[in-house]
Amino acid sequence: MPTTSEVKHHIYTDRKWIEAGEFNRDKHQLTMEVRETYVGQSFVLLTEDFLLSLQQLCLNFENIVELGAGIGWLGHWLGKYGITLQTSIDNKSWSDFPQNRYLDLVQQMDSLEYVLRHPEVHLYILAWPAEDDLATRIWQSLIPGQHLLYIGEGKNGCTANDTFFDIIKDHEVENESTRIMKQSFLSFDDFHDQPYLYKKG
Ligand SMILES: C[S@@+](CC[C@H](N)C(=O)[O-])C[C@H]1O[C@@H](n2cnc3c(N)ncnc32)[C@H](O)[C@@H]1O
Repeated sequence: MPTTSEVKHHIYTDRKWIEAGEFNRDKHQLTMEVRETYVGQSFVLLTEDFLLSLQQLCLNFENIVELGAGIGWLGHWLGKYGITLQTSIDNKSWSDFPQNRYLDLVQQMDSLEYVLRHPEVHLYILAWPAEDDLATRIWQSLIPGQHLLYIGEGKNGCTANDTFFDIIKDHEVENESTRIMKQSFLSFDDFHDQPYLYKKG
């Protein structure tokens, strides 16, 4: 798994080239090509630093499940870092992911149905949910004490709906682990996703 500095050396991330007043046409071209190929596999840009931060964060939770997991790469790589998920759930409805691309660890099921049947789960991971009411309904279905690690864009972005951001805003967990997680996270250039941990009160 590449480190954040290795990724940043090769491609632009987090709109940093604008801040730095730097523009290299070849690097920009490569950034666009890598991003386009990568999102056919994973919307989350995975790095060594981010996975190490998740490894630390996940040590606080016993039963962890990823919802809307897509191909399943996040769960796969967490496993390599010693964090075994209870399962990875996806209903395999995403037309950009061919059916034969899903990893074996991905169980075909509706996310909401899974949440309603599994009160024993301590942490749900939800990355890049579509701009519909699914993230909102998942949050509303969690029981007190359950956590949601949401990786996505903010209000008016490309993930979840406005209601989601209204109802989670007072539930963010901010501590040393989440600070390191956010600091280690990279977004593809022109994406605005970030990881946030929420606790249902
Ligand atoms: C934008 S993709 C993100 C996939 C993955 N989390 C990632 O970051 O690469 C959204 C995923 O949610 C899945 N999905 C959408 N609605 C779902 C539902 N009701 N239950 C389970 N999965 C769902 C889609 O099949 C798709 O794989």
